[in-house]
Amino acid sequence: MRVVIVGAGGRLGAVLVREYGHDFDVVGFNHAQLDLGAPEQLRSTLGALDFDALINTAAQTNVDRCETNPEEAFALNGEAPRILSEICAAKKARFIHISTDYVFDGAKRAPYTEKDEARPISVYGESKMAGEQAALEAYERALIVRVSWVFGPDRPSFIDWVIKQAREHDEVKAIADKWATPTYALDLAQLLKPFLPVAGIGDPGRGVSVNAKTGVTDPGYSSDPSYGGILHLANTGECTWQEYAQWALDCCHEAGVALKTRTIGASSLAEMKSFIAKRPVYSVLSSQHYMDVTGNTPRPWRDVVADYVRDFIR
Ligand SMILES: NC(=O)c1ccc[n+]([C@@H]2O[C@H](COP(=O)([O-])OP(=O)(O)OC[C@H]3O[C@@H](n4cnc5c(N)ncnc54)[C@H](OP(=O)(O)O)[C@@H]3O)[C@@H](O)[C@H]2O)c1
Repeated sequence: MRVVIVGAGGRLGAVLVREYGHDFDVVGFNHAQLDLGAPEQLRSTLGALDFDALINTAAQTNVDRCETNPEEAFALNGEAPRILSEICAAKKARFIHISTDYVFDGAKRAPYTEKDEARPISVYGESKMAGEQAALEAYERALIVRVSWVFGPDRPSFIDWVIKQAREHDEVKAIADKWATPTYALDLAQLLKPFLPVAGIGDPGRGVSVNAKTGVTDPGYSSDPSYGGILHLANTGECTWQEYAQWALDCCHEAGVALKTRTIGASSLAEMKSFIAKRPVYSVLSSQHYMDVTGNTPRPWRDVVADYVRDFIR
């Protein structure tokens, strides 16, 4: 089976290229090789290629840049997924498009399910929601996978920033009034496998129709093989940035990493004057439906942070 990864130079895309390379014929495209902002290039390059599945991890992921460059955000995050979806529809290939917890406004205080209404409060969130809708309009079997707070070894994220700060400074603070779930790119690679055409669960090309296992018949999760839909997928549990940061330092201490501070102070979202875009205060995703359809349970966020620190922080 040939799997195309768009966004191969990114935090998640790089992991998918490496991990799936063990099992599948993987063709990765990084930004320099394929530009989401060049529809004709997408059509000519991908149209000429034979493949069974395409995973789009590429996006304009800089939330504040999206706020000040909405045209670019909607072109890359909103329109490009439609084109990728059309290409996959024409080939009857699986299309998995990665989206975000930032499609929610953050008003809830319990994990967001796929049935909750997306109400973005930033251009990034709006453009990602537009991409979800466009992908599904173009190909009803498109699978939209919303993830949150992705971290991994291929590109620094919040956890790497915190550890760097703690190595260099006596005082480090992190936001204590914003909740989500850190999600490990290495785990996502494994957790997404059931949705690839050759995976062990369900029939080839059936995607979320794997729900034959549970008999779930909600729209978007019908056992009709032509259905795609939206799926939430994150490691389990929830935390603030402060708790995430504190646990990262605790793991560093355990691993013998030298730090100047071992305690993370609290700051508030309102103090973050450098943020241009609004961020949802609460954007925990419920992976319950994922668990129901696949029988897999994502690991708790503390376990995956511990693994990351043990394996990649020196
Ligand atoms: N990271 C998170 O916390 C998080 C949370 C929720 C959802 N997500 C979603 O998860 C997916 C993967 O995120 P990630 O963390 O892997 O982000 P990332 O590291 O920023 O990767 C995104 C990739 O897209 C590429 N890209 C940007 N503009 C492009 C363009 N015009 N054409 C082609 N490629 C372009 C980037 O390349 P360059 O860097 O070379 O420009 C980068 O390699 C995204 O859809 C994101 O919205 C991420």
